[in-house]
Amino acid sequence: MDFLHVKDVLSKEKEGKEVKLRGWVYRKREQKDIVFIILRDSTGIIQLTCKDEVFKIAQKATIESSIQVKGIVKEDKRAPGGFEVEVKELEIVGLAERFPITRDKSEEFLRDVRHLWIRSQKMTKIFKIRSEVFYAIHEFFRKRGFIEVQSPSIITAACEGGATLFEIKYFDKKAYLTQSWQLYAEAMIYSLEKIYTIAPSFRAEKSKTFRHLAEYWHAEAEAAWMDMKSCMKLAEDLVCFICEKIVEKCKEELEFFGRKPKDLLIKPPFERKSYSEAIDILKKKGFKIKWGEDLGADEEKALTKGYKKPFFIYGYPVKCKAFYHMPDPKDPKITKSFDLLAPRVGEIIGGGQRIHDKAQLIKKIKDFGLDPKDYEWYIDLRKYGSVPHSGFGLGIERLIMWIIGLQHIMDAIPFPRTIRRYYP
Ligand code: 4AD
Ligand code: MG
Repeated sequence: MDFLHVKDVLSKEKEGKEVKLRGWVYRKREQKDIVFIILRDSTGIIQLTCKDEVFKIAQKATIESSIQVKGIVKEDKRAPGGFEVEVKELEIVGLAERFPITRDKSEEFLRDVRHLWIRSQKMTKIFKIRSEVFYAIHEFFRKRGFIEVQSPSIITAACEGGATLFEIKYFDKKAYLTQSWQLYAEAMIYSLEKIYTIAPSFRAEKSKTFRHLAEYWHAEAEAAWMDMKSCMKLAEDLVCFICEKIVEKCKEELEFFGRKPKDLLIKPPFERKSYSEAIDILKKKGFKIKWGEDLGADEEKALTKGYKKPFFIYGYPVKCKAFYHMPDPKDPKITKSFDLLAPRVGEIIGGGQRIHDKAQLIKKIKDFGLDPKDYEWYIDLRKYGSVPHSGFGLGIERLIMWIIGLQHIMDAIPFPRTIRRYYP
């Protein structure tokens, strides 16, 4: 007889049948002549009743021990899921020592024992949603004819500014961990035209915030012939597609987090606000921000207040955005750039149109105090059949935070890296 999974056993159809299950002891309650075990596997939880011949061995099974059982499925309205298994045979596969995670442990403690906390129902549900987010991203881009391409993680020059670069020892030289695939993606569009990736990006973020990781997963797209407008359209279609798939596939998980499908079934187009409009709104809200200054987490939180749906801010001033952003020919103080802001989380996507003219690029590199020598190959791309092109990057953990309604980005990834934590 094959082992079944919990979700397959929780059904009227299995009632009265003999089944085999295996998993871990999630909860346990003992009475005089019966032990109730809640068994957990990757698909859910189910109650096991252990008496008579298996009573003694069930007593020995500690929390988080791995066990396998054989028994009869019974309907029981009081049991979680409405069914239980009356156990006839029970084997302890791995007897657990005293499990350190008990009720009311601090968030800090749970992060210290992350390797064990990831077994919790909360984390399990988050990672199922996360998996579907990754799947949806692939599905979306492939459906639209984008080709998946990988870029190196070890790089020699910054994409997003020197302040957040991780320096590493590269044999006897200096190198960095990548902040984005973008510069390499720009080299690849000359042959593949429409490309995407999902890869880790690294940021030596020196501050501790609710939305910054030192290592995060970045979904990025780049396309030849694409202008900023179409790029924004692509970004909003992607976010809507992901949300639609999560609603379709993760009903139970969303319910667990109290997220309503109707709040995620969003439709394009998203609202578009210019940077200048955003500054006016912030001033009205009492922020002492001047035109030309970048928007931080507080400003973004204030801007998204009252919103249920993400929206764009476009046309950021030159100094707010990385060197490669194309100045707007109609108003060179601003760039053809955009961010997508999600309620409470703020920026989840950054993107825009790139400079494709060689002289303009070299000038901008110098204006930013960078050395054109460090960007020689990148400048080279503008010499041989340059084309207008655009792209964007989506912070996957930030999107997950918004989808689920998580308070902290650390919960959106199994083993978070931040300025204070890189263990376990
Ligand atoms: O806005 P960013 O820095 O843009 C880029 O890296 C572009 N080169 C992307 C591109 O056009 N291909 O980063 C993109 C997104 C942000 O909008 C944010 O969601 C996420 O990456 N992000 C972070 N997520 C978690 N922790 C951090 N430290 C992050 N920094 C950026
Ligand atoms: Mg950004």
